[in-house]
Amino acid sequence: MLLNMIQPLRKPSIPRCSAYIFTRLQSTFYQNRHLETYISKTTQRLTLRQLVFFGRHMNEERLIKSANYVRTELPVRIAHRLRDLQNLPYIVVTQEGVSKVYELYWSAFEKFRRYPPITTLSENDKFCEFVNGLVNEHATVIPNLSLGLSLSSPYLAPDELDSFMRRMLTSRVSRRVLVEHHIALTEMFRGRREKEASGEPHVGIIFTGLKAKKSIERCIKLLRERPTWVEDFNEKIDQWPEVIIDGQLDTQFPYIKEHFEYIIFELLKNSMRANLLAHRNSPSIPSIKATIAAGENDIGVRISDQGGGLYSDSQINEPADLFSFSHRRNAARMEHSRIGALRSASYSNKGVLATVAEQVDRWNHAKSDEVKDQATCTEPHPRIGIGLPMSNIFATYFGGSLELVSLDGWGTDTYLRLPKLGTNLEGIEV
Ligand code: COI
Repeated sequence: MLLNMIQPLRKPSIPRCSAYIFTRLQSTFYQNRHLETYISKTTQRLTLRQLVFFGRHMNEERLIKSANYVRTELPVRIAHRLRDLQNLPYIVVTQEGVSKVYELYWSAFEKFRRYPPITTLSENDKFCEFVNGLVNEHATVIPNLSLGLSLSSPYLAPDELDSFMRRMLTSRVSRRVLVEHHIALTEMFRGRREKEASGEPHVGIIFTGLKAKKSIERCIKLLRERPTWVEDFNEKIDQWPEVIIDGQLDTQFPYIKEHFEYIIFELLKNSMRANLLAHRNSPSIPSIKATIAAGENDIGVRISDQGGGLYSDSQINEPADLFSFSHRRNAARMEHSRIGALRSASYSNKGVLATVAEQVDRWNHAKSDEVKDQATCTEPHPRIGIGLPMSNIFATYFGGSLELVSLDGWGTDTYLRLPKLGTNLEGIEV
């Protein structure tokens, strides 16, 4: 069965984990008594509305309840993902990037499992420090997983590989949402959090009236003023495509700003690149259109470019293949430059996802231009192929969707739909 899945074509030499990690892997792989207990528990999934309602009128008792929810919920979510990792063929789980993630998750699982109940505000402060440490420690999980699974893709059927990655990434987003929301609620309650620079109302990390147009404008500004993402263009760019925002411009909805802006940033970035590349020899670069629509249950954003579409010079067969981590669906996964960029990102202590989201966030928080200069990451963005798959994970996390439609020879339309009532539970894969 496994042999059938092995493609004889291109087997990369897979860097294996260190002897130390290999021994740790062996010793933890079958020590499953506690793991079994946690895997038998079901996750307590939440809706956006529950997160807002619970956090809105905060008091000591609620904050401590929130801390204990995070303390008991995270090991359950991590345990399910540890089981997913154990179910991979051994040749995959012992691969460099994957084994690193397995180690990190095993260690976080053990720490959470042993963490004593939180009963006071000062114990909660310590708990926040503890989880914040883990958030930083796990910064490179995505490039590591992506590197490991791209390199292992000859050993896994594409559907199996993609559903594994989907569960890993959705679950990671979910854990960070719970942790970051709790930390934000604590900081607000303890009076340690500065007021939002933009003045937009929020509860924890959820913006209760996120203004779609304002977010789009912030992303455009960041893309134009800090074009580190065009670092691999050979030509100097002296003309930027204009972005025209139209539709229902006063649309507001409750959402996690960081997620919405991550998606918009990525989509606009792709459209700008495509327009610039397709029209680099023309006297003018066509504009990009961002249309906002407010439906009864959802908000929609359509981004249309004239970058020639998705198929002209790529090896993908359908747009959804761009979300895939399998080289059989998306050949770019095995390109040397991609693997090299992933490898560097997997060793960086910053984490790639953080750089984009944090840039937008730090930019939003910075008050003066001088502070903005310091706040914005000046390093170029490595092109590691994470932007679209992650945007898809963020879009679908609370039941939205992301679709790409290519008008080959002309351009691409991307449709983002996000639920606006906040009543959908987090995805089943958490
Ligand atoms: C992750 O970032 O992968 C996490 O699971 C973070 C969590 C342990 C706080």
